[in-house]
Amino acid sequence: MAEARFARFRRLRRTPGIRALVREVRLTPDRLVQPLFLRPGRRVREPIPSLPGQEWVSPDELVKDAERLAGLGVGGVLLFGLPEGKDAEGSSAWREDGVVQTGIRALRGAGTPLVVLADVCLCGYTDHGHCGVLKNGRVDNDETLPLLARMAVSLAEAGADVVAPSAMMDGQVAALRQALDEAGGGDTAIMGYAAKYASAFYGPFREAADSAPQEGDRRTYQMDPGQGRQALAEIAADLAEGADIVMVKPALAYLDVIRAARERFDAPLAAYSVSGEYAMTMAAAERGWLDARAAATETLTAIVRAGADLVITYFAREAAGWMR
Ligand code: PBG
Repeated sequence: MAEARFARFRRLRRTPGIRALVREVRLTPDRLVQPLFLRPGRRVREPIPSLPGQEWVSPDELVKDAERLAGLGVGGVLLFGLPEGKDAEGSSAWREDGVVQTGIRALRGAGTPLVVLADVCLCGYTDHGHCGVLKNGRVDNDETLPLLARMAVSLAEAGADVVAPSAMMDGQVAALRQALDEAGGGDTAIMGYAAKYASAFYGPFREAADSAPQEGDRRTYQMDPGQGRQALAEIAADLAEGADIVMVKPALAYLDVIRAARERFDAPLAAYSVSGEYAMTMAAAERGWLDARAAATETLTAIVRAGADLVITYFAREAAGWMR
C-alpha cells in the first residue's frame, strides 16, 4: 500500500460538479446593485462614453430598465441624477420634481420589486462640483449637513427604500437619521459610504455624473488611500450615528479593508466596485486582452470572499444574466 505523503487537492477539482459542490463563495444576483444615471426628459437613452455598456436614461425609461433588472433577479438599483441646473448650493438636489425624485416616483408607480437606493451628495448638483458647500474656498462640513439631510428627506418622500450619503462629511449619517425621523421617514434605511477613499478610480463616474470638482480635489474629505485602521473608525462612527448598512469604496484596491470590516462589525457590509474598476475591465476586453465575463466574475467573487454582503457594480445586469 502506498502511503499518502501529500494532500490530493486536485481530487475536488476534477469536475465542474465537484468544484461547485465544495465552493465556499457563490454569487447570486440578489446581492448585486446596479448603479443608474438619470437625465431629465422623456425617452432619453444615451450611451455613456466613459462607461461602455451603461446609459443615461430619463425617468420613463428607468422603469423599463428596472423591469429588466428585476426579471434577472438583481437586488436593487442605486440612482444618480444629472440635474437641469446647478448652483453653489446644489439646490436642485432636493426638488420635489428633481430627476431622481421623478425617477423614484415612476418606479414606485410601476410597483418595482427592486430595492430602490438613492445617492445623497451634492457634487452632481453644485456648479463647483464639490460634495458640499464652499466657505472661504473650503468645503464646509457643518453647513453642508442640513443640505444633505434635505436631499435625503426629499428622496425618501419620493419613495426611496435606502438613502446613501456619499459626501464624506463628518456627521452626515446622524444628520440624515434625525431629519428622516422628524419628517416621518423612520422606515427609510441609511447606507453610509463609511470608508470612501479619495480614488483615481472614480474618473469615469465623474464624466457620467458631470461631477468633477472645478478646482482642487476631494482629498480634504475623502479618505487617504494610505489609511487602513481609520476605515474601521469611520465605519464605527457611521454605525454609532445610525447607519443600517456600511460601505467600503472602491472595492478592488481595498479588499483588505473589506475583510477587516467584516471581521470587526456584524452590520451588513456593502462594497462599491466603482466606475474605474468597470471601465478598465471593459477597456482591456475591448482590446481582446482579457475576457470581461471571466474577469468580472472573478472580481465579484473576490469581493464577496473578502466579506461583502452586497456589491454595487456596473456589471450587475450582465452578471445576473451570466448566473442564469
Ligand atoms: C458622489 C459619488 C461618487 C461616486 C459615487 N458617489 C464620485 C466621487 O466621490 O467623486 C463614485 C462612483 C464610481 O466611481 O463608480 N460623491
